[in-house]
Amino acid sequence: MKILIIGSGGREHTLAWKLQQSSKVKQIYVAPGNAGTAEVAENVDIASEDIEELLNFAQQEEIDLTFVGPEAPLVAGIVDRFEAEGLRIFGPNQKAAQLEGSKVFSKNLMQKYDIPTGEYSSFAEPKAAIEYIKEKGAPIVVKAEGLAAGKGVVVAEEVKEAVEAVEKIMVEQKFGRAGERIVVEEFLTGEEATVLAFTDGKHIIPMLPSQDHKPAYDGDQGPNTGGMGAYAPAPVVDEEVLQKVYNRILEPTLAALNKEGIEFKGVIYSGLMIEDGEPKVLEYNVRFGDPEAQVVLPLLETDLVEIAEAVIEERLEELIIKWSGDTAVAVVMASDGYPIEYETGKEITGVESLAKQKDINVFQAGTANKDGKLVTDGGRVLAVTALGDGYRDTIDKSYQGVEKIDFEGAHYRSDIGHKALTREES
Ligand code: AMP
Ligand code: GLY
Repeated sequence: MKILIIGSGGREHTLAWKLQQSSKVKQIYVAPGNAGTAEVAENVDIASEDIEELLNFAQQEEIDLTFVGPEAPLVAGIVDRFEAEGLRIFGPNQKAAQLEGSKVFSKNLMQKYDIPTGEYSSFAEPKAAIEYIKEKGAPIVVKAEGLAAGKGVVVAEEVKEAVEAVEKIMVEQKFGRAGERIVVEEFLTGEEATVLAFTDGKHIIPMLPSQDHKPAYDGDQGPNTGGMGAYAPAPVVDEEVLQKVYNRILEPTLAALNKEGIEFKGVIYSGLMIEDGEPKVLEYNVRFGDPEAQVVLPLLETDLVEIAEAVIEERLEELIIKWSGDTAVAVVMASDGYPIEYETGKEITGVESLAKQKDINVFQAGTANKDGKLVTDGGRVLAVTALGDGYRDTIDKSYQGVEKIDFEGAHYRSDIGHKALTREES
């Protein structure tokens, strides 16, 4: 079988690494990929948003199955385009991808179908939004409706900051059309976690819960990033919480989509806030998380091609999805200055020294090969994922891997997994 993976991050390297383990897979292409994907697959120089070129390539190469990593091509309708040409592709169609593509759509859906989430109101005019913010007071959260590469959410400590966010998004139009409408949302407290789930539109099966670390610095300080590390399984989502997530969020979300006449096939990502064992939805995504994929996929024992085929053929119900009993911890190494401003092209050393270690994987993200050298090529450069027994050992193993890798200005958080550790040791 020939596989095409779309994207260029750590998530896509992890997908390629996972898929090459399938006995069904003969050849994997990644468009556009990175230096890490070039080791397990063949990179194709097509941007992940160039749907027509991707379609041409898939037709020419007779690709049997395409996996879409990032949200933008899904929201732009890549699945509809591929399916119209009779190509198999794993992911939601454009209508279903609104779950991530429009925060107004997803919040309205949750409200209509009683899915637990923060109280909110949506606005198309800045004046009304500002009045609402003044009435509600701070802390309060302002979100651009559409895709803003993770930068469209402002958690405002003060009314002034929230008002400035409204102006930036709606008046200055910093995110273009993605900010034509906004959601203003109640500030929720608790511990965040991610539950990814496979769905074929009829059944929904949760994966192991995971936890991302969004702020740039230790102790959850500093600006939000794409994610500085992750671990799975996340103990904050114990069996009881997971049952609630299933009964109150996953199942009702799928039922709600069906009631609205929307068929969702692929991965639903529930970003949750959990307080006193009660989960609420912060956001949905319509794809694997990054860096959550880097910890969840290595623990998946079932063949991912088999799962994707079952999703496409609507027979997920028949499948028993198996997980290893290990713990996975991924520490992201980023460029100095990320997520704000950073340089690229710095030589990376030490990655090969970890190649023989079975329980450590280096999943590359912003990397490239230049003049025979591995260099940095983005904000998040790579993630060192360790597999082990329990959090303490696995966290240590991951940081031992990080110590072996070097590039100028390398920045990483030193407290990945600390919340799990506190739970494990209490
Ligand atoms: P989102 O893209 O909607 O997940 O927002 C990005 C991040 O902002 C989340 O991971 C949370 O850390 C934070 N956030 C979003 N919504 C809220 C909220 N209602 N209350 C508190 N924090 C939030
Ligand atoms: N880790 C957050 C995301 O993938 O959106």
